[in-house]
Amino acid sequence: MRTIQWFPGHMAKARREATEKMNLVDIVLELVDARLPESSRNPMINEIIGNKPRIIVLNKMDMADPAITDFWVKYYQEQGIKAVAIDAQHNKGLNKLQSLCRELMSDYFEKRLAQGVKPRPIRLMILGIPNVGKSTLINRFVGKNQAITGNKPGVTKAQRWLKIGKDFELLDTPGILWPKFEDPEVGLKLAASGAIKDQLLALDDIALYLLGFMKRFYHQALLKRYAITESDLQNLSLSDLLILLTEKNGFGDDYTQMSQRMIYEYRENNLGQMTLDRPIREVTNA
Ligand code: G4P
Repeated sequence: MRTIQWFPGHMAKARREATEKMNLVDIVLELVDARLPESSRNPMINEIIGNKPRIIVLNKMDMADPAITDFWVKYYQEQGIKAVAIDAQHNKGLNKLQSLCRELMSDYFEKRLAQGVKPRPIRLMILGIPNVGKSTLINRFVGKNQAITGNKPGVTKAQRWLKIGKDFELLDTPGILWPKFEDPEVGLKLAASGAIKDQLLALDDIALYLLGFMKRFYHQALLKRYAITESDLQNLSLSDLLILLTEKNGFGDDYTQMSQRMIYEYRENNLGQMTLDRPIREVTNA
């Protein structure tokens, strides 16, 4: 497998910008991909967020395995972090997300109301690695009511705030973090989901990873989608299985094309709802 080259300069800049924005907001919405909630978190995220209240938002829940999404939401909650699953593309879970934001700020609201002062809107920002749905969520949240509330004093760079109802303001540009990992499997998951560029890894490595993963956890979906037999699955190595699929799908011996097709189908959710990050102790259903 090829070594992945990262760009420390870009990463340092992204991190600095995210840290600067932190001071402007009340709550950070840490957006992750529900199909790979842990792998799509930046490992430095806790350092960047510090003590700022945060909600882990598992987006693209429509593409993830629902039972495992429930597991991850509970897992974060047990660690004392509020978490919610949403589907930004189809506008699902956004009200729940807003309720969680209000819950996080309830002390502040009570205090202000006790002082007889109208609470100001809660300021939010979205933070996450590429492709987790940051822009989609901003667009959904703001909808047609896009309004800019102007710059805030004391801010060096002009920051634009988008109004969400009367209770919230959202920073119009999300904080972008780069994925960073040492575990090659995390790299494969990020590549399969589209979070890192295809050119960074060989397409057949990604396809072989998906095949092996489906064989282990989504056995039936694999049989159904690609019209292979149980005996093919049990007797062939993963490479031979990829070659068989290549032939069956009319690509001759061009397994790179088949790999591309498989990755595309995964990204388009044609292989079924699958979660690549698994709970630590799990029984294989293969
Ligand atoms: P980013 O800002 O974090 O980089 O992500 P962005 O919003 O651009 O979303 C990346 C892709 O994920 C987009 O698809 C977007 O439509 C899709 N997406 C975002 N949220 C969801 C979700 O909850 N469910 C599903 N199924 N997809 C979601 P794209 O193919 O890159 O573009 P397009 O198809 O929207 O044109």
